[in-house]
Amino acid sequence: MNLSHLVQSIPPSPTLEITAKVNAKKEAGENVISFGAGQPDFDTPDNIKEAAHKAMLDGFTKYTAATGITPLKQAAANQIENSLGLKYETSQLIIGNGAKQVLATAIMACCNPGDEVIIPSPYWVSYPEMAKMAGAKPVFVSLEAPTFDLDINALEKAINPRTRAIIINSPSNPTGRVFSEESLAELAELVIKHQIWAITDEVYDFLVYGENSHHSIAAVNPEIKKQTLVVNAVSKKYSMTGWRIGYGAGPKDLIGAMGRIQGHYTSNPNSIAQKGALEALNGDQSSVEIMVKAFTERRNYIVKRLGKMPGIKLEEPQGAFYVFPYIGEIEPDDFGFCNDLLEEQGVALVPGSAFGAPGYVRISFATSLEEIAEGMDRMEEFLKDREG
Ligand SMILES: Cc1ncc(COP(=O)(O)O)c(C=O)c1O
Repeated sequence: MNLSHLVQSIPPSPTLEITAKVNAKKEAGENVISFGAGQPDFDTPDNIKEAAHKAMLDGFTKYTAATGITPLKQAAANQIENSLGLKYETSQLIIGNGAKQVLATAIMACCNPGDEVIIPSPYWVSYPEMAKMAGAKPVFVSLEAPTFDLDINALEKAINPRTRAIIINSPSNPTGRVFSEESLAELAELVIKHQIWAITDEVYDFLVYGENSHHSIAAVNPEIKKQTLVVNAVSKKYSMTGWRIGYGAGPKDLIGAMGRIQGHYTSNPNSIAQKGALEALNGDQSSVEIMVKAFTERRNYIVKRLGKMPGIKLEEPQGAFYVFPYIGEIEPDDFGFCNDLLEEQGVALVPGSAFGAPGYVRISFATSLEEIAEGMDRMEEFLKDREG
């Protein structure tokens, strides 16, 4: 039986494929170090689990409002106000099944078939597929290598009457770049001039290193908020990837439209997970500090080790938990590089091509320092063997 044209144009998620390959090797008894993970290796804090347990015992196990429970919307609004200084009413918030669903629903709510969505590249793997599933066309605009800053001129050239939205991700997966307030302000002017939507994915906002600080396009001038959707989640910040709770804040009309879509797709996000997320946002925040400290230590260590490896060209990540070095001088075929490294040394990375950046590899440091040290030793061996 035939499947739709749409689904035939949608490849499986490359990062999930790598995970499957690593798991198969581990099950076969191989000692694999995986730098493929897109999630913190920490457990969800106990206070959050207890809140979810209580929700179940209290019988909070029925459908909720399609866009989520009001106290959670309020907690998300408070979190945005604390971090960005922007005020939202609860009617301007939607709770979804992870940032992923919020992003996909937003694109569906903004775009007509044939509209264009600008995606700065390298990009997180799901943006182009979300655009395609909404009937829109992803238009890639290269970020400026090697830093991967916004290229405002190139972005302006890409905007045309069919452009509906731009997706911004800072701190970035995969590059670890954090966009400066100045470049976001320049981008905001473009977005206003051309009256397009800005969809800003800020799931790594809590994880910035050194002198860097997180900025949102939504806050760079008083006008831009009206045409911006801020997307965030509890997934990474509270180590709750499996709970599937994210949120979006934006103009009431957009949120209302997204709520109608979500109501038909999933009814509502999981009631128990919403109570867990409520505790995450309102409860004790010390687990976040502990996690940020651990990530900072790992980031400094991995940058030092990779910096000594011949042929590896590296920009230090400013945020998130990924390093994105250029390996093209060693091996232009990044898929081949990752495959050989996995087969010869049992180390899993994600090829940059998966993010629209051939010649690069993404190394996640969401794993223990011991694993990182062992993985770096093996990578050194691998590079030595190649040279020799
Ligand atoms: C940039 C980015 N946005 C969104 C997500 C998805 O977040 P969630 O698990 O809340 O759907 C991820 C997860 O890898 C991500 O890296």
